[in-house]
Parts: sequence; C-alpha cells; structure tokens
Amino acid sequence: MKAFYRAAAELLAPALEMDVSTVEGMLLRPPKPEMGDIGFPCFTLAKELKKAPPQIAGEVSAKLQAAEPFAEIKPVGPYVNFVISQKALIAATIDKALSSDWGRSDSGAGKTVVIDYSSPNIAKPLGVHHIRSTMIGAALSRLYAACGWKVETVNHLGDWGTNFGQLMVAYKNAEENGKNPGTDIDSQLKLYVEFHDLKDSNPAYEDQARGWFKKLEDGDEEAVRLWKIFVDESIKGLQTLYARLNVTFDHYTGESFFNDKMEATAKRIEEKGLLEESEDALVVKLEDVGIDTPCLIRKTDGATTYATRDLSAAEYRQSEYGFNKCLYVVANQQELHFRQVFSVLKKMGYDWAEGCEHVKFGMLSFGAGVFGEERTTGSTRKGNVIFLEDVLNRSVAKAREIIEDNARDDEVKNSAAELAEKVGVGAIIFTEFMQRRMKDVVFTWDKALNMQGESGPYLQYTHARLLSVIRKSGIDTNGADASKLASTLERGVLMSLLDFPASVERAVSENEPSIIAEYLLELCAVFNRMYSDKKNHQIITDDEALTKARVALVEAVRSTLSNGLALLGLAAPEKM
Ligand code: ARG
Repeated sequence: MKAFYRAAAELLAPALEMDVSTVEGMLLRPPKPEMGDIGFPCFTLAKELKKAPPQIAGEVSAKLQAAEPFAEIKPVGPYVNFVISQKALIAATIDKALSSDWGRSDSGAGKTVVIDYSSPNIAKPLGVHHIRSTMIGAALSRLYAACGWKVETVNHLGDWGTNFGQLMVAYKNAEENGKNPGTDIDSQLKLYVEFHDLKDSNPAYEDQARGWFKKLEDGDEEAVRLWKIFVDESIKGLQTLYARLNVTFDHYTGESFFNDKMEATAKRIEEKGLLEESEDALVVKLEDVGIDTPCLIRKTDGATTYATRDLSAAEYRQSEYGFNKCLYVVANQQELHFRQVFSVLKKMGYDWAEGCEHVKFGMLSFGAGVFGEERTTGSTRKGNVIFLEDVLNRSVAKAREIIEDNARDDEVKNSAAELAEKVGVGAIIFTEFMQRRMKDVVFTWDKALNMQGESGPYLQYTHARLLSVIRKSGIDTNGADASKLASTLERGVLMSLLDFPASVERAVSENEPSIIAEYLLELCAVFNRMYSDKKNHQIITDDEALTKARVALVEAVRSTLSNGLALLGLAAPEKM
C-alpha cells in the first residue's frame, strides 16, 4: 500500500506545487471501494486557492494522466481519488502472498532492537498476568524481525532479592525437621508459603531470611549453592511454559547478572556529578526534567536498587549489542521507574538513551466466576494468584470439549488432544491482542473461545476451513490468471491483502501487535463477504480459469492468515 501512496503523492505533488511527503501524509482510504482506492482531500487548499474543494478536485484531476500503477484518477466530491490498476494490484498481492517473504520488508535493515520482555520475578510459578509482557514482547520481536531489524531478546529475570533468603530459611527448616524439601518450581512455591507461616508464628524468621540473603550477597558457599539451584529450577519451570507459548529468548541476563557491574555504573554517575545524598541514601535528582521523585541509586544500608540494575543493564546492552532501540515491555505501573532510568541515562550523556522506550500495557483481570471468586493479580501467599499454567490447562480442556463436540470427521477427533493444545493456548494468547495494549483486559471464557468471531480460535478455524476449500478443489493454482478477480467483492479482498505488509510496518512503528490481530479479523470479514455471496462467487465454477483464480485468492488469504497468526504466536491448524 505504501508504494501506491507514494506513487499517488508523486503524481499530485507537482500539480499542487507541494512536496511529495506532505501530500503523502494527507492521503487516505475512501470509505467505499467504488469511490477509489486512495483519496486526496482538497479542503485545506480551499482557503488558499479561494475555491470550493470539489472545484479544486475537478481541476487537479483534469491535470493528471492516469498511468500504471493507476487505472483511473477522478474527482469524487471534494477528493481526488485514485483507482489502482488490476495488474498492479495483483502484482502486489496474490503474486506476493504465496511467496515466503510475504509481509516482510527491509525497513529495519542495519538496525538493532533489544526487547526486554516477560522478565518475571522468579522462585515462584508464573502468574497469569505475566502473559501480557510475554506475548506482547514475543510478538514485537517477531514483527521487528519481519521488518529486517536485528533483534536481541532479553529476559531480565528478577533473580536476586530477599525472597531467596526466605526460601533458604524454609528449606533449612524443613531439612532440620528431617524432611526432604524439593527444589523444583512447585516445591519453591511450597517453601514460599511455609516461610510465611513460619514468620507469622515467629517474626525472628524474617531476620533469618535477611541473614541468608546477606550471606548470599557475601558469596557464602552454601547460600550461593542453594540460590543457583533455585534459579536453575525456576528457569526450567519457566521454559516448559515458554515452549507451550512458542516463546524463546536470546539472553537470560537477570538482575543478578549485574551484581558486579553496578559499582562501576554508580561511579560513573558520581563522576558526572549527578549523585546526591538525601536522607542517608544516594540519589539522582530529576526535578529539572519534571520528575519530582529522585532516582534511588543506593539505599541507606548501601544496598543497590532495581533502578541501579536497570542503569547497568542499559549500559551493558548498548555496549554488547549497540542497539538503536531498547524496548521494555513492562506494565504501566512501572512508568515512573522507567522515566527515572531513562532520564538518568540522558543526564549521564548517553545519546543512545533516546532509543530506550517503555512499551507499557494495562492490567489483566478476571471477573467473578472465571476462576472461582473474583481475582486480580493478588498475592501468591494467600493463594490469590492465578497461575498461567492453570489458565492454559483449563483453556486446553475447554477447547477439547468444543472440538470433540463439533468434530466432523475421525481425523479431527483422533487429533483432538494435539489440536486442543493449539486452540486452547492460542485462545489465551490472542486475548492479549484483542485491544490496544494500554487498555485493561477483563478476561472471559466466552470471548477467548468464541468460535464465531473476534477470537484466536475463530481465526484458526477460518484458516483450517480455507485449507479445506483448497484441498477439496484439487486445483494447482500455478499460472492462475488473477486478472479474472475483478468484482467489487473480489477486489475488496485484494485490497485487504494489500494492507498486510502495511499493518506489519504500523505494528512495529507503534509497538502495537494488536494491529495485526485487528487486521486479520478484518481480512476474514472481507473474505467472508465475498465467500458468502455464493451466487456470484462460487469458488468452484464451470469456468476452469476462473476457478483457478479464485482458489489462488483463497490460498493468498490462507497464507496471510497463517503468517499473521505466526507473528502473534498462534499455531495455524490444518484441520479443525
Ligand atoms: N521483574 C520485574 C517485575 O516483575 C520486571 C522487570 C522488567 N524489566 C526491567 N528491565 N526492569 O516487576
């Protein structure tokens, strides 16, 4: 689509005595396909030229000669509208949609983006709210890669803190009582709960936990040994889940990775004269950049902070990867933290800090009845947390019921378990993309598993259905003559296909994967409008050439759907 906008702007600019990019920025899509494919509004010129917009549209159109890629240039009310030629439209859609680089571009070639996502605090199972950062971040990493960026994905695990001291206390206590506490992720949760019970009976356990954490910080052999086990087991547990979600990371550099790097960072801050004492702590004041709360670098007891780790991490990422952009996919509650961190980096004189961006998102909550009583992201301790694994399992079980109830043949029935995993997990993943990321999400099963529309399973089902149409036709689309696809409805599908690469670009420029979800739903809607008009758009007809062209169109839509689902992290089942 972009190329066509540019071509229209290049034709218009000289006639209007304006520059190409200004004109390009004013172009829009006419509301109805019969009006044309690209429109230039003449309103803003009216004042300057002292003429009515429709008159300007008429005069400008008369000056322009339609040539490839346009078949027609015409005034429509106050607009100059362009109709893309069938030949150009086909070359940009059907011909490309069937190749493997459909939707890909090289707009990010030569640039590197670091994406920090998921990044949970470990030593307990993943709560369901982590799905947000995990899936938005994973989708962004695929989208940037599709646009030619070099992508470095980072899991900035919260793997350092007094909570490890707490686990150690509970672990040692169990051992002393002759029990053998496990160390896997489920055992860690038990230890966590046990510690809190201990502490409730005797507050001295709190001091013990601090003591163990101090030992860890001092490099005590036993403390370090236990910590390593807890971290490794935690990561193992995480990776089982990540595998189900189709998520991977290039780097697991958690908070502990920066233990030996913060001293130097703090020193650089000091050398730049930015470090100030405030109530016994060391801070960087940020009032001059409009942030009232100073950034805490070192606490009263000398301990470093979450912010110091992020400052070290940013320096490290820049020196290791030389990023142009560094995205932090983290809930909007941490907005102040990131504003502080980015401001300190800028004060330190790092130009590259301009490329740091907090990709925020709203809250995920569960209404009453979805998981028993009403719960948001509560405390692990009180059992108020909904674990991601439980949500996935529940969704897969529900998907399985739906599949078994509706299975039309034995093949589907026999693969119900495998299929349910794709659909159930896909349903949960897709809820992340049903709205702009800044919006809060209220999860319901009806929305997530709605087979009729606006859900992951619906898109997956549509994909399988298109594949079945292609399979049943038994047609080889090689050499199909797509110029036959000239009805308004067919043209609508072609125009919608044209939006795919542009949607990928837009999702990247706005860091908004939901744009892809919205696009795919729109594509399905436009396709269905054509498909359900059986009278005029039967896929299999007596006209062999027409049939071939229509099957090629179905194949192009299917390919787009499968590429789009993959970008979001959903599987595209072959049969459903
Ligand atoms: N571990 C943090 C949390 O769970 C999120 C870390 C985000 N990334 C970062 N570089 N601060 O709240």
